[in-house]
Amino acid sequence: MELTEFVDDNKEKRTQNSVLIEKRIKNRKFKKIVGNPHPFLKWAGGKRQLIEQYDEYLPNDIEEYIEPFVGGGAMFFYLLPDFAILIDNNPVLINTYNVIKNNVNELLKLLEKHENNSEYYYNIRSLDRHPDFDKLSDIEKASRTIYLNRCCYNGLYRVNKKGQFNVPFGRYKNPIFCDKENLLAVHQSLQNVELICDSFEKVTEFATENSFIYMDPPYVPISDTASFTSYTKEDFGKEQQIKLKKVFETLDKKGSKVMLSNSYCEFILDLYEKYKIKIVYATRAINSNASKRGKIKEILILNY
Ligand SMILES: C[S@@+](CC[C@H](N)C(=O)[O-])C[C@H]1O[C@@H](n2cnc3c(N)ncnc32)[C@H](O)[C@@H]1O
Repeated sequence: MELTEFVDDNKEKRTQNSVLIEKRIKNRKFKKIVGNPHPFLKWAGGKRQLIEQYDEYLPNDIEEYIEPFVGGGAMFFYLLPDFAILIDNNPVLINTYNVIKNNVNELLKLLEKHENNSEYYYNIRSLDRHPDFDKLSDIEKASRTIYLNRCCYNGLYRVNKKGQFNVPFGRYKNPIFCDKENLLAVHQSLQNVELICDSFEKVTEFATENSFIYMDPPYVPISDTASFTSYTKEDFGKEQQIKLKKVFETLDKKGSKVMLSNSYCEFILDLYEKYKIKIVYATRAINSNASKRGKIKEILILNY
């Protein structure tokens, strides 16, 4: 097993990284993407803070990009590939991406109307408890999702066993729930993107030897307090991690380049022992107690 640590104070590595990052920014300008599209939802496990450490392990040329656990899409927005397939099994999330891709102007009109107060928030939150919820249009549902995400406590997406959103009001002074500039940029960046609401196994139907696949599943919890796997009604347990490893192997056999993130723990280290394993350091973001947001080790697994 090959273990390489990302060393924060290693000047040579940092310089190498900034050259790569600059190259990617130039590439974006070349593609004439207006603005700086970035994740439009706060998402547990979002990878924005880790991208700089990941960069040196990314392939130089990416023809087809596939991301089977897209979540907030930090990696997609960083790479802005010419062609991409983004998959997630959360229908609420994929609907929001689809609406931004296809109906951004109508969405912006609805977002402008929201209010930042507790009574209004709980009214909007309670909509998915009513039998009429399904009568809302996809655009109304997307507007609700973005609003709740921006105004809820700690920007979490969390649902109960019935699939009902259950995060309390966040009491932020000026939450930005209608970020017009970003949503327009995101709209543009999604035009050559196929969005699929399905489980991660779907990736094997699309992968080819030209694909680069980044997989960021719900992590194996390293302690009870660190666990966060409630993105949907079903939890992502060890069985799912083993299934994912089989998918990783299938993609490897197809000749795709695969990168996978997970927590640093024996179970995952053993599961992927035949591949390259790199260590990165993350700041724990989901803990509301700032004093507990220390640096924790995570791993990146590569087949190339
Ligand atoms: C760690 S998050 C991804 C975060 C993302 N990389 C980002 O930057 O925001 C994991 C994602 O996997 C999704 N997910 C959970 N189980 C899944 C499954 N069986 N198939 C596909 N997606 C799944 C969740 O909805 C969640 O969005």
